[in-house]
Amino acid sequence: MTTKARLRQILSYVRPPYSVPTSLRWLPLASSSGPASCSLLIKHYSTSFHTSATLSSSRVRKAQLGPDIVLNEDFALPVNADLYAPLPEELEFLKATTGIEDEEALKAHVLMVQQQAYKVAPYPCIYTYCFVKTPATMQSVYQDILKIGRECENAVLLDVGSGMGPDCRKFALDGFPAKNIVATDLVEEFLDLGHVLFKTTKETFPANFVAGDVFNPAFLSIAQPARGAVRTPRPDLTTLTSLNPLHGHCSVINATGFFHLFNKEQQVHLARAVAGLLSPEPGSLICGLDFAAKEKGLVEFDIDGIKKYRLLSHSPESWMKLWYENVFSERGEVKVQANYTEVEVLGKPIPCLLWYVRRL
Ligand SMILES: C[S@@+](CC[C@H](N)C(=O)[O-])C[C@H]1O[C@@H](n2cnc3c(N)ncnc32)[C@H](O)[C@@H]1O
Repeated sequence: MTTKARLRQILSYVRPPYSVPTSLRWLPLASSSGPASCSLLIKHYSTSFHTSATLSSSRVRKAQLGPDIVLNEDFALPVNADLYAPLPEELEFLKATTGIEDEEALKAHVLMVQQQAYKVAPYPCIYTYCFVKTPATMQSVYQDILKIGRECENAVLLDVGSGMGPDCRKFALDGFPAKNIVATDLVEEFLDLGHVLFKTTKETFPANFVAGDVFNPAFLSIAQPARGAVRTPRPDLTTLTSLNPLHGHCSVINATGFFHLFNKEQQVHLARAVAGLLSPEPGSLICGLDFAAKEKGLVEFDIDGIKKYRLLSHSPESWMKLWYENVFSERGEVKVQANYTEVEVLGKPIPCLLWYVRRL
């Protein structure tokens, strides 16, 4: 059976949100091994977030996407070099970070990294070359973020669900001190592949990488948003093994293409969890970009014309409500801003929500 046919077959099993048919939950997984792979799938579909399994083993090559679909190498579309068509600003960013000026050599380099990353976990953002985009630059608060990095010696910037870290490379390129950046992802290999993609080492790009599952309380527990002065000293970022020591210490939290991967309960959990990391200093902010909807609900997206996945997408109103009602319910504590925008993916404009939550 061809990959596309297999994909169609699997997608035909997909049921309404948050209930996963047994047939899908127990898909045979190529190159997975025994109980570890089973617990991974269960973890992603469970409403409790308490297992510590991660995807980072290269022996377990699969990824969960959206509220109700699993991706694995069995049925991911094969990568397609013909779809590589970076926008001028993306080319400029790639040249500035990699130092590769020759566009054919640059293409070969990007394709080589794409192949490796896709083998680890075949996310659509890898297939669609979104890992060379820097959506954080679209934020109206982008310059404010750089100013925080320039003016506050100890300001921590956390890039959550960082993948290969295009946004945090761009923050560093534009002057946010790399040593004050923490990049985190479930998949450790993505963080490492960031060094390959951007041709850096730990020495030349001294940002701090910490791999883990944001739904595992041992990695990121829910704490009340910090109010008043933070009592604990800023932790040594170079020795972090979880995000918990960062409670109340992050001046900027960037979450690009991250919240939309999860269902309603998970989005609220995640919003509370990252809010606990935010510094109480006025001006501290959480920002992100996610797929948008006219009205909150599951929106179906396709890649390359093939029906592919549904994501819980928000309108500006429902997104602001999520934060005001579930996270920062004290009046006047934060300003939440969310606006529609469009991001070009494989030549098509995709409606997105550009948002931030700023401490007043
Ligand atoms: C759509 S990608 C976005 C990557 C990156 N922000 C970018 O713009 O290129 C989402 C990322 O979230 C990570 N992720 C998914 N579930 C996660 C979890 N439970 N904890 C931490 N990271 C997770 C994935 O591994 C993936 O790298």
